[in-house]
Amino acid sequence: MADATSIIIFGASGDLTHRKLIPALYNQFKKGRLPEKINIIGVSRTEYTHEAFRELEEKGVREFAPDSFDDATWAQFVPNIWYISGDASKPDDMEKVSKELSNIERENTNRLYYLSVAPNLYEPIILNLGVAGMAEENGAWRHTIIEKPFGRNLASAQALNKTVHRVFEEHQVYRIDHYLGKETAQNVLFFRFANTIFEPVWNRNYIDNVQITVAETVDVGRRAGYYDSSGVLRDMFQNHILQLLTLVAMEPPAAFDATALRNEKVKLITSIRPVSAEDMVVGQYSDYRQAEGVTPGSTTPTYAALKLQVDNWRWRGVPFYLRCGKALGTKVTKILVEFKSPPHLMFNLQEGDKIARNILSLCIQPDEGIHLQFEAKIPGMNGFRSSEMEFHYKDSFAEKTSDAYERLIVDALRGDASLFTRNDEIEAAWRLFDPIIARTEGDHAREPELYSRGTWGPDAGDTLLTKDGRQWQKSGCLHDLKHGE
Ligand code: BG6
Repeated sequence: MADATSIIIFGASGDLTHRKLIPALYNQFKKGRLPEKINIIGVSRTEYTHEAFRELEEKGVREFAPDSFDDATWAQFVPNIWYISGDASKPDDMEKVSKELSNIERENTNRLYYLSVAPNLYEPIILNLGVAGMAEENGAWRHTIIEKPFGRNLASAQALNKTVHRVFEEHQVYRIDHYLGKETAQNVLFFRFANTIFEPVWNRNYIDNVQITVAETVDVGRRAGYYDSSGVLRDMFQNHILQLLTLVAMEPPAAFDATALRNEKVKLITSIRPVSAEDMVVGQYSDYRQAEGVTPGSTTPTYAALKLQVDNWRWRGVPFYLRCGKALGTKVTKILVEFKSPPHLMFNLQEGDKIARNILSLCIQPDEGIHLQFEAKIPGMNGFRSSEMEFHYKDSFAEKTSDAYERLIVDALRGDASLFTRNDEIEAAWRLFDPIIARTEGDHAREPELYSRGTWGPDAGDTLLTKDGRQWQKSGCLHDLKHGE
């Protein structure tokens, strides 16, 4: 394969480019992890000169990667950045892009196309890449990253997969889910399968339930137009939260490679039982309908909680409770594994004493780490109390955790698709979520329960667990304890 590599970002004038992509590429350049001969080429309709685009991106890196920015590295990095203006959804413009690319490259060059455009432009751009011969691999590879959302239901995802496969083979396609690039999400598999002590108890015999919380304090902000037609189930559950669930619940793959890993994920997703209407709760923060861009009387959920059942040997009978919402009281992403109570308690407990169950907390963000809650005897007395063993990334490692996009872009350059979603996986995810989402849309849409900003969502989110004799566990990640959870 060729020596040189180009990264071509379609939709380069958008937010993602200067907030995430260029800062991620800059950081990887600084760490020496990009190929030596590299071109980074922005493409979008806005007219910029190379110089103007470079200045814009410099501002982005200064703002979004302030700790790593330095003038000397930037001076080495910036000559690799180029800009081509054009509407890549028009075949003629794509021809122009193709010519200008060849002028910049001057030699046979590998290419990573990054589709950071509105989802309705995925298909025309992909088809135009095909027509312009830009997907052909003649001694240089062609990969393409496709941003989320990948479809808005099963039918549209299938149609998109079909179009993609008219131009690219599956091994060239990298459907991105940035949650998989988070260091702590990747560590779930290491934690489970590189340690002897947890995996033997990681099943229905010892685990009572699993709770996944993705809480955000931000509201829909200026994205109301997009969000109102998506809602939390499409925006977060079908992709990010389901991916976290697969990591915590999948069987060990025989090898740590893309095929084996993704086979196990598909097996897990297809083992999830269809979710019944009683096992789902939807909510909306109280002033959501007043936001600009939201349709009057919108039933779009900004919060949801689900109870999922995995019908396989390992998990049969263990509920997985998932919740996620905007405008909540704290920002935290965590997976809590609540173990069963010991089979027999021989201690002389006082009336009202209850032994808490062990809880393992996988803290994905912002205070990244792992905590284990266990019971300990209070010195000098017969009583006992819950205590925690804690591991924090920031205390244990000198290396800082890097942004998810850094890892994912480099993986796509190297041809490692392990942390990207395969076509059958994305379709399996929609197959599970289509009927759930259908209950929140159309004439018979379920009315979401209103909740106040700064809370943990509607009361019904709690009832989902209390009716099973359980509750959302407060234990776990330090950050939310500090915020009075
Ligand atoms: C995006 C969603 O995919 O993920 C946003 O579209 C959400 O609505 C974001 O805020 C959350 O990502 P993170 O990395 O901040 O947890």
